[in-house]
Amino acid sequence: MKKNKFEVPVIQRVNPGMPGKTGMGQGYSPITEIDGIPVKELIERFGSPFYLISEKKLRETYRKAYQAFASRYPRVQFAWSYKTNYLNAVCRVFHQEGAWAEVVSGFEYEKALFNGVPGNQIIFNGPLKTEHDLEKAMDNQSVIHLDHFDELFTLIRLSDRLQKKARVAIRINMDTGIFPKWDRFGFTYENNEAWHAIEFIMQSGFLELVGLHTHIGTYILSTQAYRIAVQKMSALALKTNATYGHRIQYLDLGGGFASANTLKGAYHAAADVVPSFDAYADAITSAMLQQNWPDNNPPYLFLETGRALVDEAGYLLSSVTATKRLSDGRRALILDAGVNLLFTTFWYELEVHPGIETTISTDETDIVGPLCMNIDVIRKNLKYPLLEPGDPVVIPRIGAYNMTQWMQFITYRPAIYMVDESQQVHLVRKGEDLQYLQQLEQVPDHLKK
Ligand SMILES: Cc1ncc(COP(=O)(O)O)c(C=O)c1O
Repeated sequence: MKKNKFEVPVIQRVNPGMPGKTGMGQGYSPITEIDGIPVKELIERFGSPFYLISEKKLRETYRKAYQAFASRYPRVQFAWSYKTNYLNAVCRVFHQEGAWAEVVSGFEYEKALFNGVPGNQIIFNGPLKTEHDLEKAMDNQSVIHLDHFDELFTLIRLSDRLQKKARVAIRINMDTGIFPKWDRFGFTYENNEAWHAIEFIMQSGFLELVGLHTHIGTYILSTQAYRIAVQKMSALALKTNATYGHRIQYLDLGGGFASANTLKGAYHAAADVVPSFDAYADAITSAMLQQNWPDNNPPYLFLETGRALVDEAGYLLSSVTATKRLSDGRRALILDAGVNLLFTTFWYELEVHPGIETTISTDETDIVGPLCMNIDVIRKNLKYPLLEPGDPVVIPRIGAYNMTQWMQFITYRPAIYMVDESQQVHLVRKGEDLQYLQQLEQVPDHLKK
């Protein structure tokens, strides 16, 4: 007789409404209108899913952020971080508000020129700039933010060969007390690498050092970190002045201000911990003003804020396509939009709000997308009202990074609309179709039959 294999019995408990480490899994109150237009009407007019950007919110947020800095410091310039959202319509709203462009590739550089940004108002960041990019930036008097010595030496050679002037800054990485330290980009402050880069530039023939740049990280909750960054950058600017009699025209503090999304696994909701623009501005500008600037002439303060300016203005409108029970009894809502359209769902607990008034009763629910992939989960274990197929949902605060880091995968990427300040809705990017997606493909002759 064969001995039966023993398996440990498992009793699985259904846990509706059990508190997690941050308390009860909350549901979300309905969002039934956006900028005064009913969500139901929007979905009837434009189908599902689609992205919607609020121009009003873009402008309001920009003005609030700019005011916070400009009211405390006399010389402030914002540069719109293209990679955060480089839809032309979005970029143009920020440019109309007065922002320059901050780009990190030849592609983004071309986009900024296309959007009418004068060359001398484009900041060219990033670890990869081809010789062609560098030459173009020199011709247009853009500022080249150097990332590493190879790039610095390439530019010195190129400017010598072409006998052309280049306006440059260096990107500096530094310890500001935050973890992890972003030391992959730029020249390091603490080991004097940044100072050596400055020495090379000052002794080169055609490079003019106009600024110093840092981007200390992203979703930075500590305003103190920015204060430290200002102190270190100022020390370098003052040393450059003392050693070479050369004035640094601006300090660029990069981006990194947190948006109002809550990070995955965070103990506190964003609303309780994210500093206001005023708090960031206070830390940065007071540190700038405390420095002993020669002739009482402080440098410009540049900022490349991305997510904090645009996240709030973006929505994804989607619909429930089906509901089902998972094997452990939880409910699943299958939406017609998945994680390929919501890149930031990997960092944030994105809020999925019903787009209609709902039942009071709730059920423990996973919210998933339509992709035939197990990773396509937007939220797990929410106490959620009982939506039905066809019901709309609204995912707010998705204006940053989702429309640039989205992935065409399994489904087409949907249209993007912008609602203007008088509630007119404009198509700003068409939804994809087969023809668009296949236009770069070629079928070899022997496969045509
Ligand atoms: C150089 C630079 N500037 C600005 C930004 C925008 O950052 P954030 O969206 O965190 O404000 C980034 C993003 O990584 C960046 O790399």
